[in-house]
Amino acid sequence: MSNIERAAGFLEQRFGNRAEVAIVLGSGWADAADLFGTTLDEVAYSDIPGFRNSDIVGHAHKARLIQLENNQLLIAFIGRTHLYEGFGVDAVVFGVKVLANLGIKNLILTNACGGLNPVWKPGTPVLISDHINFTGTTPLQGANFLDVTEVYSKRLRNICKSIKPDLEEGVYVGFMGPAYETPAEIEMVRRWGATLVGMSTVLEAMAAREAQMEVLGISLVTNLAAGMSGEPLSHAEVIEAGKNATKMMGTLLAEVMKEITNES
Ligand code: HPA
Repeated sequence: MSNIERAAGFLEQRFGNRAEVAIVLGSGWADAADLFGTTLDEVAYSDIPGFRNSDIVGHAHKARLIQLENNQLLIAFIGRTHLYEGFGVDAVVFGVKVLANLGIKNLILTNACGGLNPVWKPGTPVLISDHINFTGTTPLQGANFLDVTEVYSKRLRNICKSIKPDLEEGVYVGFMGPAYETPAEIEMVRRWGATLVGMSTVLEAMAAREAQMEVLGISLVTNLAAGMSGEPLSHAEVIEAGKNATKMMGTLLAEVMKEITNES
């Protein structure tokens, strides 16, 4: 039995297999999970066979079973492994593969990111319409020519816009990190068409598509991208912007997840 099967088996025993939607919450988003519904069960990643714990400030690390207001079930993964932690791409996509193994059909990936559009003030949520995988790696193995023309589901984006019509979309570029980008790198990706920049999500989204999950990506812009504001970037600023947006994001995501599970 693989580590993925072992972890999925463990979670199935604890959480059952009735959830159709799951969410991965990135930096500063943990508190939003309290607004999704009623927590039925929670387990630390360190207690799940095969899972890695993370030790970055602002990243809590647990899997939670939540009952939404419409009584549907949600699995929330609070905290993720990043490529820059050095544990490799398998560790980054481990949680997504476990969720696929549990039969999850819809996966919501959230993150905190820098914004290249100056009208997006810190605290603006933006739907990911597409991504540029600039991590230099992939979760796919062998000659797996996965079609990635629609990584981020148009159907799920439309559900979000039906709930919050002023939601904008952006192209997310995933860097390896852990340094923030240089202003020259930001200028480069701007010319490529990117409007959001971060250090997560792209590999998870590809693993989810490989497993035929429908993916929704939502970024919280926590800062203007490097070189745009005249100020240095700081992790504390990113966490702070996430905290300030907790209520808005929690409420928005709760509505989105209710709508997704009503449709399915
Ligand atoms: N760059 C990369 N990752 C980030 C940023 C950024 O500006 N803000 C939050 N995460």
